Amino acid sequence: MAIPQFFLLLVSLFHHAFAQDFPIGVTSPLATSCGPDNANVVCLDRYASVLPYHFFRRFSGGSTDISFAQTNVPHDTSFDLVGNADFLVFDQERGLELLGSNPTYDKVFNVSEAVHEAPVYVPSLNKLFLSILAPPAGVLQPQLVVDLNQDPPTLSEYFSDPPVYAPNGGTFYNGLIYWGASGGNRSIGGIEQVPGIQTLDPHTNKTKTLLNNYYGLYFNCVDDLIVDKTGAIWFTDPQYSWFNRLVETPPQLLTASYRFDPKTGAVTMIDDTIVQPNGIAMSPDGKHIYITETGAVTGSIVRGGPPGSPFNQTGPRAIYKFDLIDGGTHVTNKRPIWYAQDWVPDGIKMAANGDIITGSGPGVDIIDPYGVLIARIQTDYIVQNIAFVGEELTEMWLVGQGGISRVRWNLKGQDLAAI
Ligand SMILES: *[C@@H]1O[C@H](CO)[C@@H](O)[C@H](O)[C@H]1NC(C)=O
Ligand SMILES: *[C@@H]1O[C@H](CO)[C@@H](O)[C@H](O)[C@H]1NC(C)=O
Ligand SMILES: *[C@@H]1O[C@H](CO)[C@@H](O)[C@H](O)[C@H]1NC(C)=O
Ligand SMILES: *[C@@H]1O[C@H](CO)[C@@H](O)[C@H](O)[C@H]1NC(C)=O
Repeated sequence: MAIPQFFLLLVSLFHHAFAQDFPIGVTSPLATSCGPDNANVVCLDRYASVLPYHFFRRFSGGSTDISFAQTNVPHDTSFDLVGNADFLVFDQERGLELLGSNPTYDKVFNVSEAVHEAPVYVPSLNKLFLSILAPPAGVLQPQLVVDLNQDPPTLSEYFSDPPVYAPNGGTFYNGLIYWGASGGNRSIGGIEQVPGIQTLDPHTNKTKTLLNNYYGLYFNCVDDLIVDKTGAIWFTDPQYSWFNRLVETPPQLLTASYRFDPKTGAVTMIDDTIVQPNGIAMSPDGKHIYITETGAVTGSIVRGGPPGSPFNQTGPRAIYKFDLIDGGTHVTNKRPIWYAQDWVPDGIKMAANGDIITGSGPGVDIIDPYGVLIARIQTDYIVQNIAFVGEELTEMWLVGQGGISRVRWNLKGQDLAAI
């Protein structure tokens, strides 16, 4: 709709008069409804980089998250819009472009408060597999399967053969699901397992162990993984399984990230500098690895120490970017490119255009490859991980503590089946 010039002039006069009540640099309104009419999108002006005094965002800590939307900004009532939006757009040009003309956000399933993880899309079945972790610990949970052939999609329980305890991360390569299996138990549901890597053939339901030790030592918590085009598996090994009592033995190894070549069985360390390496992704051009640091959520590795891993707001919680070297077998040039604006960056997935999507507190951030925030999806539950689904890969599913939800938009996911 064309806006009459006269109206624009009035708006601008009002704007200038109003702005004088605030420090130079404050724009008002900070937040406006924007984007397609039928979607709940709010645009932030200039990242709300100057807020009117007195504003305050309370500390997050323990298990309490205070999001950006909960920042108290009494002198700009437009900020109230932020809390109710499904989509927050920080970069208007790129943000509205990735949302497209009909973005939707739906919470499709209410699920338990247990961590939900390892969402993997299987194109040949048009199904999304995911897992349930603790709490409660020490229970062999079924996996869950979302059948996307049904409208609305259905959710059912699934046991592989043999079952796998606590898959914490997953990816898809060459027709198989690859799981970072994070649990360790001498006898649970008839199986013995320590943390490692397993594959699942989604057509036969058969699982196979590819890796379960480092020269006799147990991995701590194979958390998340990605397979490159040579078939090598890059994975992270933080210590959450001990904090959450999903293993019976305290850590035997420092936290680190590795590359495993299933053709030879060799494991090589790629990084030992991240406090709790968590999500891992490879850029679609195969030139970069991204690893999320969730060290702000950490616990005690002492046997007999307290279980759990409280959040520490001043602890480390960045996304690191690395470049591949040595014929694509190692990484260098570690640099932080993104400091989580909410909680910790957990699961990480790539868009086909190289944008980074990370589950971070109650929502998902979309960041460009240089660490500039473009947009955020807001949820009412903590999102652990995400997966793109469908033929076009323009539908994304979010899984976490209390919910499974779906976003339809214009952003196309990395095609894991094409690696
Ligand atoms: C989830 O639970 C809430 C609160 O009970 C309810 O309002 C909502 O409709 C439920 N959503 C789904 C998808 O079942
Ligand atoms: C191992 O499994 C048994 C049987 O389900 C359970 O009682 C125990 O708590 C489990 N231990 C861990 C560390 O998960
Ligand atoms: C695999 O498991 C699914 C779900 O339980 C079942 O419907 C299917 O028949 C199984 N496939 C085989 C080959 O056993
Ligand atoms: C939080 O993290 C910072 C930085 O690592 C550290 O100095 C501080 O002691 C931590 N606080 C707690 C309560 O663990």
